[in-house]
Amino acid sequence: MAIKILTVCLGNICRSPMAEGIILHEAQKQDLPIEIDSCGTGGWHTGEKPDHRALKHMDKKGIDIHHLRARQIRKKDLQYFDHILVMDQSNYSDVLALCQDQKEAQKVTLMLSYWPECPSKEVPDPYYGGDEGFETVYNWVQKAAQEFIKTLK
Ligand code: 4NP
Repeated sequence: MAIKILTVCLGNICRSPMAEGIILHEAQKQDLPIEIDSCGTGGWHTGEKPDHRALKHMDKKGIDIHHLRARQIRKKDLQYFDHILVMDQSNYSDVLALCQDQKEAQKVTLMLSYWPECPSKEVPDPYYGGDEGFETVYNWVQKAAQEFIKTLK
């Protein structure tokens, strides 16, 4: 059975859909079957496509995430998924607050914890910044995704 992975950020239009696309791409390169989805702790962007800057950056890297649509996290996600990868500390506390028990709480980890040498423990929110913020998201998440996938094999 494929391992089920959920990536989580605040709006589900920048970081977590990029992370979803990057992790799937890296898993496919390694022939590792996974099931993956993403969501936001907030619901303001429900039904929207990823941010146009996220789409542009991912297109440039050859990863298509145009089909993704934003949604808000639900309590049943914590039961269903095996790994819940959050982008920052604020996402971490928000998701932990939804957990019903220790078993669910143990599934929640910071994305960048898989790459301890990263300059930061958090994937910075690129929404209010420029293109370089999206490049940082891509580079850091890609490195962490490669390390995360090694732990699944
Ligand atoms: P994300 O970025 O959490 O990486 O999707 C954001 C997108 C939208 C907002 C904040 C962060 N917002 O406040 O609308």
